[in-house]
Order: sequence, then C-alpha cells, then structure tokens
Amino acid sequence: MTPRTTGNIVIADDVEANRQLLWGLLTREGYTVHMASDGVAALDLVARQMPDVVITDVMMPEMDGFELCRRIKNNPATRLTPVVLVTSLAERNDRIAGINAGADDFLTKPFDPHELRARVRSLVSLKRYTDDLDSADSVILSLGLIVEARDGTTGGHCQRMAAFAAAFGAHLALPPEDIAALHRGGYLHDVGKVGVPDAILTKPGRLTPDEFEIMKRHTVIGDALCGDLRLLRGVRPIVRHHHERCDGSGYPDGLKDHDIPLLAQITGIVDVYDALTSDRPYRKALTQEAALKELLEEARRGWRRADLVDEFAGICADGHLKRLGDHTAPGAPFRPAAAPSLR
Ligand SMILES: [Fe+2]
Repeated sequence: MTPRTTGNIVIADDVEANRQLLWGLLTREGYTVHMASDGVAALDLVARQMPDVVITDVMMPEMDGFELCRRIKNNPATRLTPVVLVTSLAERNDRIAGINAGADDFLTKPFDPHELRARVRSLVSLKRYTDDLDSADSVILSLGLIVEARDGTTGGHCQRMAAFAAAFGAHLALPPEDIAALHRGGYLHDVGKVGVPDAILTKPGRLTPDEFEIMKRHTVIGDALCGDLRLLRGVRPIVRHHHERCDGSGYPDGLKDHDIPLLAQITGIVDVYDALTSDRPYRKALTQEAALKELLEEARRGWRRADLVDEFAGICADGHLKRLGDHTAPGAPFRPAAAPSLR
C-alpha cells in the first residue's frame, strides 16, 4: 500500500549518511522529504516547496543552520514554517544561538526515532493550524473587498486604507499588534455595509434622515459580524467606532475624546482623507492640501484630535502617503498576505 503523505519536510545536512537516516525514518511515516546538502540549497528548496517543517544541521558549508533559520524566519512568506535544529547533546551554546535565530525545536544526535516522529508530527500539526489561520485571514480581508465592490465609487479604498492606516500607526510608533489591527481595519472598517440595502448604499443623491440612520448601522452590524473571532479582537473597536467624533456628535455610541479608541480615531482620519482625495460621482478628488485643510477644520470644530491630525499632516508632507497610494491604486494586485506581522 502506498503510504499516506502526511506532510512536506525539507532536510538540510552536509553529511550524506545523516540525510539518508532522516529520509528513511520520515518517508516510512508517509512524509514527502526533500534534501539539501548546504544552507543555500535548503533555502531555495524552502522557497519552492513551502514545507511544513525544516530540519537542519548546524554546521554546513555556504550557509550554516543558524543563518538558514534566520532567513526563513525573516521572510514573511516562510516565517511561520517550523525549523528544527539538529545539535549534539553537549552543544549548549548551539541551542542558545538556535533560540536566538528563531528555531522552534531541537533534535539531538544520535536520533531517537520515537522522539523524531513525535516532534515532527506535532510541528506539522502546528503548521496546519497556522496555515488555516492565514487562510481565514485572507477570507476575512476579501470580505471587506466584496463589500467595497458593491459600492462602485470607491475603487481601491480598502487597500489604500490598510496601507495608510498601517503607515500612520508605524509613524506613531504603535506596537506591531496595533499596526496589524490598523491594516486589517483598513479592509474591514465598513464590512457592516453588507447589511445596508443597495438602494441606500448606492444612492447617488443625499440620504434622507431615515436613510442615514440605516447607513449608520453599518458600524454596529460590522462589530457584530466580527463577533468573538480572536483574530479580529483588535479590529472590532475600529469597525464600531471609526465614525465617532471627539465632541460626542459621532456614531454609533456618541463617545467623546479619549473614550474613542485610538485605532478608531486613526482610521477615522485616514477614512476622511481617502474619501476627500478620491473622485466621487458628484465631485472631483480634492488635492492633498485641500483634504488636510478640511481635516484641520474638523479638528478645530472639535471632531478630531488636533495632535493626531498634525501628525497625519506630517506624513503627508514627506510624500509617504502619496507613494503608498500609487502602489494601491485601483487595479493594483490584491495582496493581503503582505500585511505587517498579522499576529
Ligand atoms: Fe464607515
């Protein structure tokens, strides 16, 4: 009977006998095994095969196991691939260097076949789990784009929002998890519009007060849609509160000043900026200067934090947003996976 393929493994070792030993143990378990005799060849195999686990020796020609591990962990496309370093029992310093290089686990020579099987099995399961999370992330972000597509006037809005908000967060030196939430929030802030009827969402003229009340519900609907998904915990405040105003005149909860979550305030500023600098059926896009003037006026009116608007004007002034906008213009490829560290 052909053994069931249970995972894809890359082995890097310059000693032929070691490679053959690992190959024998793992193929017997049903794994597909790819082998390289140095770090450079292994890195190339990792890029082509996208393995579930990499098992690497430490001392190898061209590139050693630490450097191989570091490169795998520094590449956004492979950073979640588990790396196992093979060391000998006495090499305590190798283990410390391995931990610093980002290794996920260690195997000691001589191999204990039971230990090898157990560790590889557990790491393959871990990789499957993170792959599922990555797929879920793409599906969720795509939902934002689908909602955007219903409203034909906002081409590229989600992608620009994600790029601008993440850049603004980085400028404010926010922690990586907040920057990741801002990026996701760029796609998802208006996801609740899925619950707003087409007749209101795409109405060319002004909304009546009743229609506007329905439109306002997109914040609450979006918040409920995000539900208790752990992945979206940081995004929910953005989805619910991006239309709040510092003087309490916003919606849905009429929050004031610092009660409005910071990430929602950032998203609100970027949302207005992108809306003003984009063409609409009823007006041409405003220049960056005119859009900033409007944001400063909103700050003066008490709707937005003046310090945040000033910081935003700073990153506009150095051309950073303009360059980002050029990369996220309508028709630019959709790459949610290029998000900054997503978890
Ligand atoms: Fe909105």
